[in-house]
Amino acid sequence: MKGCKECCAYLPERGALPLSSCGELGGAAVHCAYPSERGALAPSPAAWTEDSEKGPLAKSPAAWTEEKIRSAWYWPLETVVREARECTDRLWGRKVFLRGLIEVTNYCVQNCLYCGIRRDNGKVERYRLSEEQILSIVQEGFRKGFRTFVLQGGEDPEYSPSRLARLCERIRGVVGEEPAITLSFGILPPKGYRDLASSGANRYLLRFETSDPALHTYLRNGIPLSRRLKALEDIRNAGLEVGSGFMVGLPGETEETRIRNILLAQELQLDMGGIGPFIPHPDTPLAGSPQIPLELSVRSTALLRLALPGCNIPATTAAGSLHPEGRERMMAAGANVLMPNLTPPRYKRAYQLYPGKICVDEPAFSCTSCLALRVAGIGLELSWERGDSLRVKRLRNPRGGITYAE
Ligand code: SAM
Ligand code: SF4
Ligand code: FES
Repeated sequence: MKGCKECCAYLPERGALPLSSCGELGGAAVHCAYPSERGALAPSPAAWTEDSEKGPLAKSPAAWTEEKIRSAWYWPLETVVREARECTDRLWGRKVFLRGLIEVTNYCVQNCLYCGIRRDNGKVERYRLSEEQILSIVQEGFRKGFRTFVLQGGEDPEYSPSRLARLCERIRGVVGEEPAITLSFGILPPKGYRDLASSGANRYLLRFETSDPALHTYLRNGIPLSRRLKALEDIRNAGLEVGSGFMVGLPGETEETRIRNILLAQELQLDMGGIGPFIPHPDTPLAGSPQIPLELSVRSTALLRLALPGCNIPATTAAGSLHPEGRERMMAAGANVLMPNLTPPRYKRAYQLYPGKICVDEPAFSCTSCLALRVAGIGLELSWERGDSLRVKRLRNPRGGITYAE
């Protein structure tokens, strides 16, 4: 393990790993990280090949039934994690797709009780990136190899659906049709999603946050779960890949809520499923809530994978913020996406949904070498491919419109 002393600069600062300096990636798989975690992953299966007319889904492991999901919720964590990783390996191999995240605006008209950038948090220093700033980040990201850009923000009237649509057109003008554009700006009218799709957007993320309708209405300040679910239907009807998910450990959540979170994600047949631990923010009404340990998010990740084998699942920044090895644990449980933050540090510092957000001081683009080491350390490999959902068959539409597999 001589190499361990030569690995990543960022990690020891966080007290995460017994490593010292970083710099280059050569031999990372040999050096870096946690021998125990590495051993925990099953050996790589034989390379998967698309050899049937039915395409990738032909080899998809069968999604688990409600009965099996309910029973597996009580299995030992190592068992569900192992099953989930094996399922991921069979369908996706050892790849972890990179997405470049851009936090466009922290203005928001909504007042979700859990969120650090909610409207009533007067302590937030508000910012809004200009279209030129966004285009230049996308351009540089594309040059560096990113093939998915995720633009996210609060519900900011300045970034209206028509302005977002124009922004997508401008992004296409700069980087062409190759990269995927994912957006996440909350609930829009149905036409908003359609306009985004026809302007070049491919995917939309809108977590349902919790499957408990009463809890949803309370936490989202009066907005019912049914409204969120209607928006997800609008997103699908617009021809966008559908991303949703939930927070784990919200106050008022029960074990039944947690199981139903998985079942709702399965019912929605998500293309992308984002799970993160809820981390109480001191300047919100939920400031005094207890912090639920990471293990519950790991269990939820594993069951989400088993419920939706073909879904893209990120190892989220919230998991990495709650625990130094949070993202690694989610990948070991079947997550296959990482989303390094490409927002310039002075802005990403102000996009604090929860305290302790990692990577806020790292310059844009500097996280990829750290992530390559982390991924290699658990026997996986970063992929710069676009990584579309296996649940969709692409049409010949160059804008990436999709039709859903039967
Ligand atoms: N405004 C859009 C929306 O609400 O869908 C997109 C941005 S929103 C900040 C992105 C996600 O952050 C939310 O879906 C929520 O799950 C997550 N989030 C907000 N506050 C959080 C907290 N305190 N802990 C963990 N995740 C949080
Ligand atoms: Fe706004 Fe999204 Fe935060 Fe809710 S979670 S306050 S919609 S940014
Ligand atoms: Fe490690 Fe950002 S510094 S991922």
